[in-house]
Amino acid sequence: MVIGSKSLSRGVAMVGAGMCKFGAFPDKTSRDVFVEAFKDMRQSVDKGFDPEAIETLYIGNYSSDLFEGQGHTAPIMADSVGLTPRPAVRVEDACASGGVALRQGIMAIASGLYDIVLAGGVERMTKLPTAQVTDTLGTAGDILYEIPAGFTFPGFYAAMATAYMHKYGMTPEHLMHVAIKNHNNGALNPKAQFGVTIPAWMQGRIEAAKKKNKPVPTWKDEWEFLHDDAANPMVAWPLRLFDCSPITDGAACVLLVAQERAREFTDNPVYLVGSGQASDVALHDRDDLTAIRAAQIASQRAYEMAGVKASDIRIAEVHDCFTIAEVIATEDLGFFKPGEGFRMAEDGVTAREGARPVNTSGGLKSKGHPVGASGVAQAVEIWKQMRGQAGERQVKGDIPLALTHNVGATGSTCVVHIYERR
Ligand code: COA
Repeated sequence: MVIGSKSLSRGVAMVGAGMCKFGAFPDKTSRDVFVEAFKDMRQSVDKGFDPEAIETLYIGNYSSDLFEGQGHTAPIMADSVGLTPRPAVRVEDACASGGVALRQGIMAIASGLYDIVLAGGVERMTKLPTAQVTDTLGTAGDILYEIPAGFTFPGFYAAMATAYMHKYGMTPEHLMHVAIKNHNNGALNPKAQFGVTIPAWMQGRIEAAKKKNKPVPTWKDEWEFLHDDAANPMVAWPLRLFDCSPITDGAACVLLVAQERAREFTDNPVYLVGSGQASDVALHDRDDLTAIRAAQIASQRAYEMAGVKASDIRIAEVHDCFTIAEVIATEDLGFFKPGEGFRMAEDGVTAREGARPVNTSGGLKSKGHPVGASGVAQAVEIWKQMRGQAGERQVKGDIPLALTHNVGATGSTCVVHIYERR
């Protein structure tokens, strides 16, 4: 049975959005990055506002308990930005925590309970070594069946990639197109963790080798680099290092208000007109590994609520935790038919200048993936793009409708939002 979508009882507008720079910050805590994101959001509100007006907070966070030994994250974040004693709720749905926090904020306003809500997300992952991060992320899988069988997240998505290659004839090179595109976009995003193109990354490696008097690599282009087992090692076949999102510290915030109050904050709001969420069984229980059913259902519900079709969406930020995830997302969302997504990446359709730009921010691959914050950071990119404030990576022309797609684990959760400029 599929639970149908209903309309919002009243409209919701985004009137501010901000994020900290994503990266690895050994000297910072979750509070530090959250405060930076909050300040950035505050500065983005055109007419200014008194934070005292915020009535409640929803904070996406996957596992501050395991990542940095701090539970009960939401009131800690509220305190860090001076917002106690307002109700503060931590929202946890694995890597979809941020997108689901955004949805909670929308529902809180639509219900009539609040007019002004902060939806945010935060994660500080780099305090732990990679092996422990991998174990911590693994708790989002099925710990009875999948994790004891040796699966890690790169392993899960490798299984999906293998199934997809088998079914549709995709090769690992097709996935490299996604990585190249997202690094090209991220290179224009000053907030990105790995904000460099792959050729610039290669140049950095060459210079570092010269400085250290080590053998200087002689890659002739990015393809040779991406095929080099030393430079781009296999993580879980067919996924190499550059098919993976990194381990990241970061936070993002958006200010949501009841539609009728939006003009108090800005003459240029972005309206949230569709929200859909769905859940699914863990990967090992699925009949098909080449699509994510929760994403198909969540997007269908969001389109219905907004009264729009997939073909109406001008740009999208999708959950590319691994390159294969972006390919599958563009199909689940109905942008392309099953088995066509990888060709669209190859043909440049999803590039910034293409017909359907995807992940203009650099996506999780280049911008970084602080898991609880990623869903909110996607909304920050849409805010900038729709208002023409994305700088060098600005997509040309009007963007009347945009979409975000945020996935928890391998798609046991998916949440999709649709944004409108009027
Ligand atoms: N893409 C490109 N380069 C990366 C990278 C990535 N995702 N992650 C790290 N690097 C680079 C580092 O900058 C570093 O470069 P340098 O030697 O020039 O300084 C080098 O690789 C080694 O970095 P390190 O942090 O030691 O990497 P690692 O081997 O410990 O971790 C992964 C690499 C891919 C295993 C790790 O990023 C990972 O687990 N990613 C997936 C996270 C995940 O599962 N998220 C949830 C998804 S659902």
